[in-house]
Amino acid sequence: MKHIIVTGGAGFIGSNFVHYVVNNHPDVFVTVLDKLTYAGNKANLDGLPTDRFELVVADICDAEVVDKLAAKADAIVHYAAESHNDNSLTDPSPFVFTNLIGTYTLLEAARKYGLRFHHISTDEVYGDLPLREDLPGHGDGPGEKFTPETPYNPSSPYSSTKAGSDLLVKAWEKSFDLYTTISNCSNNYGPYQHIEKFIPRQITNVLAGIQPKLYGAGLNVRDWIHTNDHSSAVWTILTKGAKGETYLIGADGEEDNKTVVELILELMGKDKADYLHVNDRSGHHDLRYAIDASKLRDDLGWTPEFTDFRTGLADTIKWYTENENWWKAEKDAVEANYAKSGQ
Ligand code: NAD
Ligand code: DAU
Repeated sequence: MKHIIVTGGAGFIGSNFVHYVVNNHPDVFVTVLDKLTYAGNKANLDGLPTDRFELVVADICDAEVVDKLAAKADAIVHYAAESHNDNSLTDPSPFVFTNLIGTYTLLEAARKYGLRFHHISTDEVYGDLPLREDLPGHGDGPGEKFTPETPYNPSSPYSSTKAGSDLLVKAWEKSFDLYTTISNCSNNYGPYQHIEKFIPRQITNVLAGIQPKLYGAGLNVRDWIHTNDHSSAVWTILTKGAKGETYLIGADGEEDNKTVVELILELMGKDKADYLHVNDRSGHHDLRYAIDASKLRDDLGWTPEFTDFRTGLADTIKWYTENENWWKAEKDAVEANYAKSGQ
């Protein structure tokens, strides 16, 4: 694999993957295909050698552009998406276009040129799980975490369009014999994450002198993984994954939201109780996510490196503290938008 297209490579997780590939695989050239929506940022690719990658600013729904790029590439690694649940609750429309039509457009180009296709998806396609205390095996019994066999049961316009995109990928493998793989990952954290998302929102709130905002009681659990571990997992699947297979990516990082807010405050030298409870996410706020990544670990030999959440969070706080220029200009608009829904 000498030339890969990374869609959404100027977003949070996609840009971390581009850095990972450029830094670790000198024989690979990367074409980033990104529309640069509000969530994309050219600066996420700063510092990368220009002879190792190119940025093409275009929509993945634009079949003509996608065709031209696909004609020169060996593989597509598909990150581009509308990715924020809260936004999907106010306007689902871009989610339907980008996540469904965009994925379809890329699959058709991959089919025409026989490209390897890896699809980045989310654990949210499986819906949610009960809290550990309400399960007979306390979360570690059979069927108490998501596995590749868990039935799809998405809750939001975001997760349902991701679920639909997974099904398109599965159908293109079965119908057209395309070499596809899918990965469903849990919640990522790390540098370059947009400040509308939970962890960077709270860090930048503290830096801006605003109280962190916790939805509802904060009992919802997310299974945190450092984005660098997501990148190494995707590279492993891209290069070793079996055709048609789905791999779940996670690093055993379950934490409830209240604990995360309190830890951020503590690591930033503030009073752990200095945050506000605000309106809960409207509709169905998924309760708990938890990944069983044993297939990826056992079949492909992947292991995560950044397993100490406290250390990873401290590094992330340091990054946002040192890179105020990256987020400052957007902060007021993001908070004004949340204020409209009492969040
Ligand atoms: P993000 O919102 O930070 O970045 C998305 C990127 O896609 C942006 O650069 C944006 O400009 C680009 N994009 C959006 N629409 C486009 C279009 N029509 N054409 C071309 N580019 C377009 O998202 P993220 O958090 O980095 O997530 C990346 C992928 O990983 C998504 O597919 C998401 O579903 C998946 N995922 C995210 C998480 C997480 O915790 N953030 C966890 C699991 C899976
Ligand atoms: O599980 C993977 C998914 O994780 C990805 O597919 C999504 O792209 C990604 O956005 C993320 O979805 P969540 O909805 O879990 O992430 P978010 O950062 O929006 O919220 C995490 C939790 O924190 C969730 O329970 C809602 C809560 N929250 C969020 C914000 C923005 C708060 O309590 N306060 C906040 O200000």
